[in-house]
Amino acid sequence: MYNKSTLIQKRGYSCHFYRLKNIPMTHPKNNLSYKGAIGVFDSGYGGLTILDKIRKQMPEYDYIYLGDNARTPYGPRSFEVVYEFTLQAVKKLFELGCPLVILACNTASAKALRTIQQTNLPTIDPTRRVLGVIRPTVECIGELTQSRHIGLLATTGTIKSESYLLEIQKLFPDISVVGEACPMWVPLVENNEYHSQGADYFVQKHIQQLLDKDPKIDTIILGCTHYPLLIDKIKEFTPPHIRIVAQGEYVAQSLQDYFKRHPEMDDRCTKEGTCRFLTTESETKFEESASILLHQENIQVERIILE
Ligand code: DGL
Repeated sequence: MYNKSTLIQKRGYSCHFYRLKNIPMTHPKNNLSYKGAIGVFDSGYGGLTILDKIRKQMPEYDYIYLGDNARTPYGPRSFEVVYEFTLQAVKKLFELGCPLVILACNTASAKALRTIQQTNLPTIDPTRRVLGVIRPTVECIGELTQSRHIGLLATTGTIKSESYLLEIQKLFPDISVVGEACPMWVPLVENNEYHSQGADYFVQKHIQQLLDKDPKIDTIILGCTHYPLLIDKIKEFTPPHIRIVAQGEYVAQSLQDYFKRHPEMDDRCTKEGTCRFLTTESETKFEESASILLHQENIQVERIILE
């Protein structure tokens, strides 16, 4: 019971180089004593919903957030392109000293995480770690659904990858899942249209289509980090008995558990409570949107190029 939706688009992009200030560009490789911030990566603004929850639960850590806003959305892109872009981002965050990178993007987690972990990490630096958001989300759902019928709202890429289905089948074989790709939802968020009346049409349409596929659904996973920004509209068009699951808190909890199990990695993550923001698009645009999304003023943003 898993819906596949296809909408493949390719988009061009360009970006100018921006030299990072006050960030070390080189550091000893393969060095377990090397310490740094936790890297948090997303294709755009969506990962801020994850960063926000992680920082609330673990404010003492340092973070570097990287949004590839110039090339968002990743959802309609091919496996190869999402992998290539995500690897570039991971390498950049490593270059900036991060011992641990969270792919706070389901599409990147679905299409690039495993290959990066298995193929790239051993050669780039086997002492560092890259973690995703799908597994921590799936781990929580066993306790949340009574009917054992779950709906997944996600990007076209995440739905097509079947990553959620595979993880759920592994952990909870009695749970059935239907998926619905929502290709317009990320552009609505990235273009600051998520409160607009225009958003109503697309939100209602995809929730209705999801529920038509399986009326027994009692839990809907928001399998894209951008979607919590549409939560008011999603709730408006979802019957009240259905639980809507956003990932942030589960990912944050899972990271805390990870550090308990891996104190050596915890030691390598610096703790001065700082957070810096990098984007591949305009700093001003990012600063405006991130300030609204995080309810935080004076966000320092730097523009970078990924290659
Ligand atoms: N926010 C990302 C996710 O969680 C991807 C959005 C996109 O770039 O399409 O899937």
